[in-house]
Amino acid sequence: MKLTIIGCGYLGATHAAAMAELGHQVLGMDTDTEKVDALNKGQAPFHERGLDDLLTKHTTTGNLRFTASYAEAGAFADVHFLGVGTPQQSDSDAYDLTHLFAAVRSLTPWLADNTLIIGKSTVPVGTTKILREILHEHSRDFANIKLAWSPEFLRESFAVADTLRPDRIVLGLAPGDTTSEAVFRAVYAEILRCGSPLIVTDLLTAELTKSAANAFLATKISFINAMAELCEAAGADVHELVAALAYDTRIGPRGMRPGLGFGGGCLPKDVRGIIARAEELGAGQAVSFLREVDAINLRRRDRMVDLAREQCGGTLIGKRIAVWGAAFKPDTDDIRDSPALAVADALHRAGAEVTVHDPMATDNARKAFPHLEYTDDATAAVTGAGLLLHLTEWTHYRDADPADLRRHIAVPKVIDGRGTLDRERWRTAGWTHRALGRP
Ligand code: UGA
Repeated sequence: MKLTIIGCGYLGATHAAAMAELGHQVLGMDTDTEKVDALNKGQAPFHERGLDDLLTKHTTTGNLRFTASYAEAGAFADVHFLGVGTPQQSDSDAYDLTHLFAAVRSLTPWLADNTLIIGKSTVPVGTTKILREILHEHSRDFANIKLAWSPEFLRESFAVADTLRPDRIVLGLAPGDTTSEAVFRAVYAEILRCGSPLIVTDLLTAELTKSAANAFLATKISFINAMAELCEAAGADVHELVAALAYDTRIGPRGMRPGLGFGGGCLPKDVRGIIARAEELGAGQAVSFLREVDAINLRRRDRMVDLAREQCGGTLIGKRIAVWGAAFKPDTDDIRDSPALAVADALHRAGAEVTVHDPMATDNARKAFPHLEYTDDATAAVTGAGLLLHLTEWTHYRDADPADLRRHIAVPKVIDGRGTLDRERWRTAGWTHRALGRP
């Protein structure tokens, strides 16, 4: 089948490559010409495991191309996916939908007859109503344009695998739309054949599924981080608490790792976005607990700064601190709302001299936080420092040799913000080891 993907960021570029892998002919469209040029050369403008290989494979055969032209996208296919980014507004908690609306406005005049548009962007519930109005206003033949919604649940650093083998696919259809499900099933035939369940529902429920999923995931993380706060107050150990809780299959271990909390381009924004939308709908009280989820999450960053100050003898002024980690989670170079960088920046503002190491994200970090020091060598970051903070749980750090590092650091103190360093190993090597949520 011929498909387009409008918007080629984390979601769109991965979706385009995955659709080509399924055997479709795919045209990705993005207004950023530099991004389009890189993608046409088989290079994603961000790091995602396996994505460059897929892009190279399919741009070489010609089954996957990228363009900056809406006219070309409109003419190319009669199935169009929307993967345009919907960040948080700069001055409110709500989603910024301007790029999404602009993309649909620009694409619509070029659409062929009998077109299906499938939205994948994360949007507040009710967005498809506005998109239908835009389609109505700008199309030549509104009656023959269908709009469906199929939210994306991929995780960064597992994006290719999550797109090709999703744990579920959700499809929202407009009332009376009797044809789009068959087209959708044809696009996803291979994935459905492999057993991914398809849930067909209405547009509003499909839109809400994504916000609800991310709000739940965020709540699970903040729940265990609230328990970590309690552990800190009581002298208990949150990691042992998790191990004990996880045996209850209704609770389970996944998505409940305590530590510095959640960051990235999705969970923080989606928690705030669902609150903002619920308030618009007059249902703010139903999700008011999510404000606390957000607050617990942000408190972990403050707690890390306080612990660092405590370990530095009560003041951060002039203290040399090594920060391991800049990405919002391991195996990505994405630094959006990174807890690690938020802490590094706060330490710098409190007067510390901060050197940041990350296996992949220092280029992006340097652009966003140019005032911090960076190094490509984890040992160099530590050399001469008075404290080491472990803030993103790369395996590189877990595997580091504390005995060797002990020879380079001025004062052998480490605070583990992610709970993945082997405490006994570090202590045996002569380090003072502290961790969030542990005595
Ligand atoms: C998240 C969701 O997991 C995806 O299902 C969703 O599709 C995606 O957002 C999206 O909306 O596009 P992602 O942001 O890639 O995916 O990352 P996660 O793996 O969920 O991690 C988010 C943050 O939570 C990271 O900072 C991570 O370190 C933190 N986290 C995660 C914890 O602190 N504890 C955990 O147990 C899990």
